[in-house]
Amino acid sequence: MARGLLGPLKPLDAREADPERKLRKTLSWPHLIALGIGAIVGTGIYTLTGVGADRAGPAVILSFAIAGAVCACAALAYAEMATLIPTAGSAYTYTYSVIGESIAWIVGWSLILEYSLACSTVAVGWSAYLVGWLQSAGVHLPAALLSGPHGGGIVNLPAVLVALGIAGMLVAGTRESATFNIVLVAIKMVALAVFVAVALPAFSGSNFEPFMPYGFGSHVENGATRGVMAAAAIVFFAFYGFDAVATSAEEARNPGRDLTIGIIGSMAACTLIYMGVAVAAIGAVSYIDLGKSAEPLAYVLRTLQHPFAAWAIGLAALIALPSVILVMMYGQSRIFFVMSRDGLLPRALSRVSARTGSPALVTMVTGVFVAAVAGFFRLDEIAELANAGTLLAFIAVAACMMVLRKRAPELKRVFRCPAPMLVGTLAILGCIYLLVSLPTHTLVRFALWNVLGVVFYLGYGRARSLVRAAA
Ligand code: ALA
Repeated sequence: MARGLLGPLKPLDAREADPERKLRKTLSWPHLIALGIGAIVGTGIYTLTGVGADRAGPAVILSFAIAGAVCACAALAYAEMATLIPTAGSAYTYTYSVIGESIAWIVGWSLILEYSLACSTVAVGWSAYLVGWLQSAGVHLPAALLSGPHGGGIVNLPAVLVALGIAGMLVAGTRESATFNIVLVAIKMVALAVFVAVALPAFSGSNFEPFMPYGFGSHVENGATRGVMAAAAIVFFAFYGFDAVATSAEEARNPGRDLTIGIIGSMAACTLIYMGVAVAAIGAVSYIDLGKSAEPLAYVLRTLQHPFAAWAIGLAALIALPSVILVMMYGQSRIFFVMSRDGLLPRALSRVSARTGSPALVTMVTGVFVAAVAGFFRLDEIAELANAGTLLAFIAVAACMMVLRKRAPELKRVFRCPAPMLVGTLAILGCIYLLVSLPTHTLVRFALWNVLGVVFYLGYGRARSLVRAAA
């Protein structure tokens, strides 16, 4: 087995031989495109549009465009790598095969932030829509159970319950969950289309002035993070999720075709819809008010005197946002699963249930972790840390794609990223720019998380690595 400078390399065509640790091939491209959209459209557009408006003003539209462009470059790199190495584990597995074990571990450790914290973020966003929706129906829940200590409460109970509920569904089996996901995806896409149709007629150009009240670069102003790039660094959250499609590669029936359609198709559809929603929301109300709301899309419709539409979009968010948790939690359990199968995490985590063919223990562990974070932390802070992890993973995938083009140009690629060196470089530079635009406290937490990861790797995984043992 090959060794790189940064630890052993997993063979590019590594396949799992142990049937007890093999995932079943149950998914085809409609499932994958729904998995993609299911993971992409969520709290990012339904909630962070407000946080973005608060940070950038009407220029949040520019923030969406910047974050979307960076994600598009990363998606192209992902599509090439996912079809070249169609085994579970996505960015972690690519890095393991192309760069080496130690960096792969750090990428896998970052993916924990991406997938788990994205689930927690969406659970908290969902909770805010639940509270707003119930309040408009005259039902008031006890405030102590609606936010963690940061908001003066004890625990965000709705967020905890939705996270645990989805984990339970996943334990019941992949195939049922993926089919159910298609229904949820349809609901949230229709809701966004209705939002644009209702809000756009109220468009007023005066809401776009001043267009860039806080300037371009990320900075702190009166204690608050501001600027177009500060907003881009948080609304970036709205775009990822397409990479969750790649984590299901081992379960795809025809990975070459299905993964390409799943990744590129879901990403393109979502970018179009986001631009429409952002223009409609900013054009309809003042960005200052938009920035204050925890459920901005429902707020816009209420302000425009469309209480029924506001009620309906709240309901759609309640029914459909859990699909993001479903897909991201699914992705997380598969990442843990592969890291455990490789020996870097305890082996018990990669046992597949004989009845459902899915890894049950690891899914439950993921569910509890996600619920605990969602119960006690602030939405924007969780989202920012999730973004930091995702940005690192995107950088790694773009780097792997470029390295492999140089090292093994002869490999047969089902999907070829156009202008790979340019697209890969743009993805890496764009991700670095977004990363450094995150608030300092997020970057410090991210660094601490990685220190913890390195300590765990040196103390546990390195000595138990199966790839290293075979090298
Ligand atoms: N992109 C996903 C969302 O917006 C994570 O919720």
